Amino acid sequence: MREIYLDNSATTRPLPEVVEAMVQTLTDNYGNPSSLHNKGLKAEKILKAARRKIAEKLAVSPEEIIFTSGGTESNNLAIKGIAYQYQNRGRHLVTTEVEHPSVLESFLALEEEGFEVTFLEADRYGRISLDDLRDSITPETILASIIHVNNELGTIHPLAEIGTIIKEKNPNTFFHTDCIQSFGKMLVQPARSMVDLLSISGHKIHGPKGIGVLYKRKGIELRALQTGGGQENGYRCGTENIPGIAGLIPALDALPDYTEENPYNQELDRLKNHFIRGLEKIDRKVIINSPEDGAPHILNISFPGIKGEVLIHSLEAEGVYVSTGSACHSKSREKSHVLRAIGLPMEQIDGTIRVSFSTYNTIEELDYALASLAKQLKTFF
Ligand SMILES: Cc1ncc(COP(=O)(O)O)c(C=O)c1O
Repeated sequence: MREIYLDNSATTRPLPEVVEAMVQTLTDNYGNPSSLHNKGLKAEKILKAARRKIAEKLAVSPEEIIFTSGGTESNNLAIKGIAYQYQNRGRHLVTTEVEHPSVLESFLALEEEGFEVTFLEADRYGRISLDDLRDSITPETILASIIHVNNELGTIHPLAEIGTIIKEKNPNTFFHTDCIQSFGKMLVQPARSMVDLLSISGHKIHGPKGIGVLYKRKGIELRALQTGGGQENGYRCGTENIPGIAGLIPALDALPDYTEENPYNQELDRLKNHFIRGLEKIDRKVIINSPEDGAPHILNISFPGIKGEVLIHSLEAEGVYVSTGSACHSKSREKSHVLRAIGLPMEQIDGTIRVSFSTYNTIEELDYALASLAKQLKTFF
């Protein structure tokens, strides 16, 4: 049976060169970068090369890069690390209702510990109000964390405007952003938006799972969440995941270089628009929940009266892989907190699927997926 993988926001298939780099590291360059001998030096070389490469992509300096175990850890480290480190300056934190659980749960944990947290509301498309943001920042606010691209809807937050508002209101408030869905799909450079901390995950860019990056601007301190051998300048102790880090290098090499003139992936946009045009031809009511100007790779749609979960399995039977709401926590029985936050009626939430594209998908694959969708929808009454 054919396999049409359209769940690229949940994870992506590692590129062959990523797998090759990882296998080579596991078999030959398996040294510990802290070791003084040749094997250690070879591993350290890989670590340095990856640090340079990611720094180049973000237009930052290599010393500002911390390798972590993934997006979840990068988010936890940024948020809790800042809160604990700077709590004597103030105990107020700001975030949104539409963050990934790794951000939301970090803030909820800090709230339990006595921090005051403002959760900004989002509109129908998952966008916060910039006026609300401005109002929320006080002299006590030590951190604001605002997601760049929402993983369920694809909504893009204007980071440059957000950074300006935060810093105008309180120059001492740190700005963290979860760029796990945006990095690789569009221009992401912290200096353009006054971003102090930024999270990235390897497995969303056809790289390995279990490797993440936290950019931390020079001069900012973080309370480490795990202590030990002093790796990553003491911010993230533990022997580095060299196979994962080695796999990140070819994944980064394969990404386009975005510029002001070419700020996002046009190829993904073409795929998404093709899919939307195909949906219009399907003889069944479909509601597009994603905003028109959303990220080029995420499309969230509802078929009222149909259970998204059932639709997913019937598409799977045709070899087509998509997800309900957000696959990061799709095993949970709870309804998506993002779709609830934007005020979708329950029936619409129940009938929601998320289709997410990669540049390695083809128009022909999308046509197959659309035909399968049309066929399966006919079986629902
Ligand atoms: C927006 C966002 N943040 C964080 C994460 C968590 O990243 P990881 O799976 O690398 O822990 C995800 C994963 O789907 C995500 O989409």
